[in-house]
Amino acid sequence: MFSLVFLTLCAVGHARHTVRFQADGGCEGVHYEPLGCFSQGYPFNNTREPPQNPDFISTSFHLFTRRNRHNGQVLSTRYRGVSVRGSLLDARRPVKIIIHGFLQNYRSPWIVELTQALLQRDDVNVISVNWAAGSGFPYTQAAANTRVVGAEVARLITLLGQRKAISARNVHIIGHSLGAHVAGEAGRQLQDTLGRISGLDPADPNFSFQPTEVRLDPSYGTLQPMGHVDFYPNGGLDQPGCHSDASVFSFVQDAYHEGMTIRLYIESVTSSCPFTAYPCDSAEDFNAGRCLRCGNRPCPSMGYEADMYKRSGTYYLNTTSGLSSGSNTPFCGYHYMVHVTLGDDMSSTHGVLHVHIVGDNGETPSLELYRSVI
Ligand SMILES: *[C@@H]1O[C@H](CO)[C@@H](O)[C@H](O)[C@H]1NC(C)=O
Ligand SMILES: *[C@@H]1O[C@H](CO)[C@@H](O)[C@H](O)[C@H]1NC(C)=O
Ligand SMILES: *[C@@H]1O[C@H](CO)[C@@H](O)[C@H](O)[C@H]1NC(C)=O
Repeated sequence: MFSLVFLTLCAVGHARHTVRFQADGGCEGVHYEPLGCFSQGYPFNNTREPPQNPDFISTSFHLFTRRNRHNGQVLSTRYRGVSVRGSLLDARRPVKIIIHGFLQNYRSPWIVELTQALLQRDDVNVISVNWAAGSGFPYTQAAANTRVVGAEVARLITLLGQRKAISARNVHIIGHSLGAHVAGEAGRQLQDTLGRISGLDPADPNFSFQPTEVRLDPSYGTLQPMGHVDFYPNGGLDQPGCHSDASVFSFVQDAYHEGMTIRLYIESVTSSCPFTAYPCDSAEDFNAGRCLRCGNRPCPSMGYEADMYKRSGTYYLNTTSGLSSGSNTPFCGYHYMVHVTLGDDMSSTHGVLHVHIVGDNGETPSLELYRSVI
């Protein structure tokens, strides 16, 4: 009797989520109140484990604004979102939600850096999502947990509407690695009312080549196009200073080395580099110089300003290596097409072609274009 009373108190005081396993009633999987059913039937059989209990993952939300740039204010979906109503969240400003990936947390260095960059550039509300307890090893468990975290994020966005009259259209989610799939799941639950999702290096294992329901749709760069605008910087593979295969090992590396895509995205927030990208079907065509045209419309910009572009498709661009020290735009590059036509009467010889480009804002050093038989 005593223990029963204790359990009841517990349920009122702490256990927000209850677990039910149902063989019938439509939920073949786990049911977590109040988030609902997490079925393990097709197409959600892409990971072996069901998602863990939301109480264990304990997703939390940390708000940063120009009035509190460094000390996050905790927002909670509990008690129907009273913490949202009393917070510094400014309903007239856009909301940026940042979601970390595998093995990271809401204070990972790139998230702190991106938060500050966004606040510096625009007067926005930045919310950093913490699901660190659910983002650890094994990878397949973390991948499964993205569904619970996505549901929590969708719930928060619904509460932003109810408590602050913020439309989901004004919400932009930026997710990295598995965080991109959290964003995709939140978008799916909000039934496409969400303003924008930027998926940075959406994680490959367990997601690529899966049906669309389980992965990110509007996206930013894996090797399989995922909808809307996909950008493939440096071909998407073999990026300067980046791994070239999608093994779990490389994701662990990613988690520690913070993918190049993150560096590019932050640079697109902090600098005015256009990161012009070109429509192309393959890296091979792009590298052969067959795609450096956007027809009669402007080319899209990769990164923060990609939403200015209203068409979908796959786009390629090259960036510089990021090694030019002292520059605040280390990855910014521009594409120039140089045609060299040799006269018929020139005899073939060995040689080196250099190009030296002079413009209104300066000039390049002499760059080697070609070295062989000319
Ligand atoms: C998921 O289920 C579908 C349909 O039953 C099956 O074809 C597919 O192979 C399964 N996928 C995995 C990864 O088990
Ligand atoms: C998910 O990915 C991991 C790592 O690549 C793999 O070992 C596992 O078999 C995958 N799970 C499914 C259901 O495909
Ligand atoms: C992009 O970079 C690759 C590797 O450096 C190079 O082979 C290719 O020609 C470049 N493509 C363009 C269009 O500049």
